[in-house]
Amino acid sequence: LNYCVSRTRKEIFETLVKGLQRLEYRGYDSAGIAVDGDKNTTTDGINNNIIVLIKKNGKVKALDEELYKKDCMDLEVELDTHFGMAHTRWATHGEPSALNSHPHRSDKNNEFVVIHNGIITNYKELKKYLNSKGYEFESETDTEVIPKLIKYVYDNREREDLSFSTLVERVIQQLEGAFALMFKSSHFPREAVATRRGSPLLIGVRSKYELSAEHIPIQYNTGDIMPGSPEACHNRPDIANAVNSAEDGKAVEYYFASDASAIIEHTNKVIYLEDDDIAAVVGGKLSLHRLNRLAGEVPVRAIQTLQMELQEIMKGNFEAFMQKEIFEQPESVFNTMRGRICFDTNKVILGGLKDHLKEIKRCRRLIMIGCGTSFHAAVATRQALEELTELPVMVELASDFLDRNTPVFRDDVCFYISQSGETADTLMALRYCKDRGALTVGVTNTVGSSISRDTDCGVHINAGPEIGVASTKAYTSQFVALIMFGLMMSEDRISLQTRRLEIINGLRILPELIKKVLTLDKNIKSIADELYEQRSLLVMGRGFNYATCLEGALKIKEIPYMHSEGILAGELKHGPLALIDKHMPVIMIIMRDACYTKCQNALQQVTARSGRPIILCCQDDPEMSRNAYKTIELPQTVDCLQGILSVIPLQLLSFHLAVLRGYDVDCPRSLAKSVTVE
Ligand code: G6P
Repeated sequence: LNYCVSRTRKEIFETLVKGLQRLEYRGYDSAGIAVDGDKNTTTDGINNNIIVLIKKNGKVKALDEELYKKDCMDLEVELDTHFGMAHTRWATHGEPSALNSHPHRSDKNNEFVVIHNGIITNYKELKKYLNSKGYEFESETDTEVIPKLIKYVYDNREREDLSFSTLVERVIQQLEGAFALMFKSSHFPREAVATRRGSPLLIGVRSKYELSAEHIPIQYNTGDIMPGSPEACHNRPDIANAVNSAEDGKAVEYYFASDASAIIEHTNKVIYLEDDDIAAVVGGKLSLHRLNRLAGEVPVRAIQTLQMELQEIMKGNFEAFMQKEIFEQPESVFNTMRGRICFDTNKVILGGLKDHLKEIKRCRRLIMIGCGTSFHAAVATRQALEELTELPVMVELASDFLDRNTPVFRDDVCFYISQSGETADTLMALRYCKDRGALTVGVTNTVGSSISRDTDCGVHINAGPEIGVASTKAYTSQFVALIMFGLMMSEDRISLQTRRLEIINGLRILPELIKKVLTLDKNIKSIADELYEQRSLLVMGRGFNYATCLEGALKIKEIPYMHSEGILAGELKHGPLALIDKHMPVIMIIMRDACYTKCQNALQQVTARSGRPIILCCQDDPEMSRNAYKTIELPQTVDCLQGILSVIPLQLLSFHLAVLRGYDVDCPRSLAKSVTVE
């Protein structure tokens, strides 16, 4: 979403397309753009501004090519209202197609156009109502009810002089579900309105001049001044001045986006909108308002400075973001620990948790909630957390946790582990536990995300932006962050000091050991060369390395689209053994830890059935080399950190398998990075 000032249409296209490309990892089955068209010269040229829509099935590149085919549009024309908006879609309702892609429109004249991130759960009822009023729908999406509804409100306004943002307020009062929305209308030239509930939305502010204020005041709809109207801004110099520090309002540009990576190359100053905030840009000036003032609400939104760097979201010399992120792990893991572990005093301080530590120590149990890879980080650290916190630890998939209406109590402490901080299932589990009075702790990689804002306290894992859909570096950083939490909890436990020291020393050299594991890349590529035509791949292990089996199998499903299963070696004889023969590829993780002997038993069961296991094991383990078809030898570390090293070969394997099978590593079919719908 984008609002530009003093730009040619070509510049607006370029800004939007680049922004979409940076967001493409969130969804990519179709894309669309809306931009002000040529003025209708037969009238006064204002109210009849035409909005042009261009939509295309496929990746953003296809849309980009389409834009330049439209030779009817003068690309060099300097636009009067300087506005454009664009969207890349990941289908929830309706197949990927140009018709189902956004922006959606109210009618053939494009009077109102809308883009939407999220899901409207009551769209069927709204559609039925609008159908009964004669509105015809052209797509199968939930989103299309929104432009139709705003036109309906507009057409039935009678004599009320409703501002654009008031219309939007009336529309969102009817919507259920999650949304970030951007509206544009030919009835309100020089205006754009955006709002959110449950889905992320931020506004980048770029000015040639220093911004004079750090906060933007919020207006409340008192009825005297219409929010979003030019009067609202002119009568409230504090609002106008807050963002428009330059005398010339044209010196300010606003970038609306669902993700900071889309705008970081233009500005690092952002305002995060809260649920039900309505932002309007009228005549180049921004104002924020809400329908009702909530008790205890702070009536300002802060302008924050993003720490993200553009190069962090560029691929550099790597073939894919996933590959870049795998190789970044020595640094990302270090950044998770930076400034938080004092290796001289063996103290671990997580600033976002320290004020709640007493309360956490008194709790009945810890509940770790996440989806996908983030859930695996909870599985990976569960045993260490049980040991270090001496508390029962439950690990929960957010969707299942909600399906079960799991009992939650006031003295529970619930952790929400999420790279994006926006996953709908995890966010709903957060709301569920908040309602029941539990203390909520966020573990996210995204500052300003819904989960980091809505939890009572938390830890940012500081892994840097993760763009590859298959999570890699976020997993190892979540792992480290959770271990650090355990270390912080156990600081006063005399009986745990030797163990703590062992783990802290393990963390100190972890980045070096990760570098060593990464040197195995060629070896892993040669294993991929052997395996890439297989249909299935089993990954077995137990104890501290069981999570690696789940996570490795997930990577192998997500990117090379191979059937893969993570199997707990202790369950082998209860079923999976039946799959083993000389044709079935098996990876076994057998490290020198408390489960070593039990894993050897599993190995024997596999070799006795002519299985040919590839074994991930510790260096210098002749016993393993003797029994394996192949080995991948890893440096040994503390048992509870070994999973950080053992997952990396499987991340690399998944990458190489996908390349060999000819798939697009960063855009796996049917998957999106951030799943903001249930
Ligand atoms: C999606 C992604 C996964 C990710 C999961 C949880 O399914 O494709 O890679 O693990 O969501 O995402 P989160 O942002 O909450 O960690």
